[in-house]
Amino acid sequence: MQIRTMTEKDIPAGTRLKDIAGWNQTEADWRIFLNAGRDGCFVAEVDDVVRGTAATIVYGGRFAWVGMVLVDPENRGHGIGTTLLKKCLEYLDSIQVPCIKLDATPLGKPIYEGLGFASEYELERWTLKRRREDLPRQGQTDPDEFMPAPLLENVLKADREVFGADRSAVLRAVNRAAPRFTDSVWNAGGMEGYAFGRRGSFADHLGPWIAKDEATGHRILDRFLAQSSREVVLTDCSNANPFIKRILQARGFEYSRPLARMFRGRNEYPGQPELVCAILGPEFG
Ligand SMILES: CC(C)(COP(=O)(O)OP(=O)(O)OC[C@H]1O[C@@H](n2cnc3c(N)ncnc32)[C@H](O)[C@@H]1OP(=O)(O)O)[C@@H](O)C(=O)NCCC(=O)NCCS
Repeated sequence: MQIRTMTEKDIPAGTRLKDIAGWNQTEADWRIFLNAGRDGCFVAEVDDVVRGTAATIVYGGRFAWVGMVLVDPENRGHGIGTTLLKKCLEYLDSIQVPCIKLDATPLGKPIYEGLGFASEYELERWTLKRRREDLPRQGQTDPDEFMPAPLLENVLKADREVFGADRSAVLRAVNRAAPRFTDSVWNAGGMEGYAFGRRGSFADHLGPWIAKDEATGHRILDRFLAQSSREVVLTDCSNANPFIKRILQARGFEYSRPLARMFRGRNEYPGQPELVCAILGPEFG
């Protein structure tokens, strides 16, 4: 087995692995990692075929995220996942990132625990399945209604507090790819909530989805559902939020699977998890 850094040419191989795992990412998501720094993205090859991937992204020097940890089912249980993870940690330690975070699936969690990661809180993937005849008509948003640049800057500023670090490059890319999903709610006192969304390979994905109260959370979800033309909608909600489950159940979402937010190092910038209805996604935080 050989580990090397990932390039654009490896995106189809990475996409094959994430399709086998039933994940919703697109080529654009791999590009976000590669554009952020390809020195921190790795593939594992066995007999010149890519059998594993792991990618990292550093957020403003405060912490890094590890995502897209995937191994071909035919090659699992031989240490490829652990070796890829060690390579990520070695790289992030070499550039002196003080804290490394990730959102673990139950399959990944034992590997991370073995490498010194501790649990911070639990997340849950929830899924909405809509009938075709219940979907809103497409193209309801006039492009003029997409978020104006100064407003987007304010949202990105608020996100630095909520997330705990600057991930504006990622959110700008998400906004460029699906501007109709970028939303915010304001009152005289300031920002009440905001959201971004992605068009994934099989579902629309709502997140980050931030709301100061339940009514705002509902409003953002309803606007997202009116913009989405897909039958399947996903969101990764935070158990640290007191009202999110009520909102999801009221709109017909169902629980799909658990995720564990984990960290290694000094978790000095946890952000404001109580305001987070849903994260951007387990691969990005
Ligand atoms: C999670 C995942 C990446 C693990 O990949 P992997 O290559 O099988 O991982 P490893 O082989 O390093 O470790 C898996 C198990 O094999 C064991 N193992 C490690 N080296 C081994 C070896 N040389 N021989 C036999 N077993 C070994 C590990 O101890 C581990 O055992 P555990 O489950 O009891 O902890 C893989 O299951 C996967 O792609 N899952 C789907 C996607 C996913 O959930 N990714 C994680 C996102 S957080």
